[in-house]
Amino acid sequence: MVQILDGKITATKILEGLKQKTSTLSKKPYLAVILANDDDSSKIYVNSKEKTSNSIGFKSCVYRFDKNITQGELIKLIHELNQNPDINGVLVQLPLYSHLDENQILNLIDPKKDVDGFNPINIGKLNSNDNPYAVCCTPKGIVNLLRAYNIELAGKHAVVVGRSNIVGKPLCSLLTNEDATVTLAHSKTKNLKAITKTADILISATGTTNLITSDMVKKGAVVVDVGIVRMPNGKIKGDVDFEKVKNIASFITPVPGGVGPMTIASLMENTFELYLKQNGI
Ligand code: GUN
Repeated sequence: MVQILDGKITATKILEGLKQKTSTLSKKPYLAVILANDDDSSKIYVNSKEKTSNSIGFKSCVYRFDKNITQGELIKLIHELNQNPDINGVLVQLPLYSHLDENQILNLIDPKKDVDGFNPINIGKLNSNDNPYAVCCTPKGIVNLLRAYNIELAGKHAVVVGRSNIVGKPLCSLLTNEDATVTLAHSKTKNLKAITKTADILISATGTTNLITSDMVKKGAVVVDVGIVRMPNGKIKGDVDFEKVKNIASFITPVPGGVGPMTIASLMENTFELYLKQNGI
């Protein structure tokens, strides 16, 4: 019988813990979010980050820009936020408008305030298993969800499908640090099915609906779906053919209600942890 990896319940527990700890603090953790993109999904994600942080007693501010924002203005804002002692975490929602240079912006965030863990210092620290100031939120959320269900990672073959800088690549580093044996597959991988069939833990993060079908999954595998695609009817779908794959997997995440809430919970954990480090606690 398959078990559902319930990200909503697990994230709610994490958020309740953070809310309780925050209630005892006189000065509150403070998250700054920059939205320089008019894409609908990014707006939804940013609203949800703002709402969640306020709901657990953090302070937050969102800087929303139209497409006239220049690289220079954004750089100036990043410097201001880096220097503002009240701000603990700085998050730049990706992607940015196409005329902006994403890598240059991520490079400029103070690694100690880089709540997303995307600055090259933090990516390097993650890759060398050397205590990054913050670990990228979706990979961290996935590992925390697996831990919450006592799923062992050491020695397991984890197959990650999708090589994005936000999920696939940092997830491979994190799983490697957790002693999993990791294979990274992507859109140019030949014979994907032969590889996914060998996965003890299969994680798909591509945004291609029904990419992972039941014939691609080993009996008893743990299946994690990071995909989020909004269908024309407004429903959200993942990468995995959930209805069929659930008959083969031992554990599976739903979409929605799986990885999504865990990403937000990890962002809040990162904000809290950066706050503690910056205050020498
Ligand atoms: N865009 C999609 N996912 C993320 C994320 O986790 N962080 C940021 N900053 N942008 C994103």
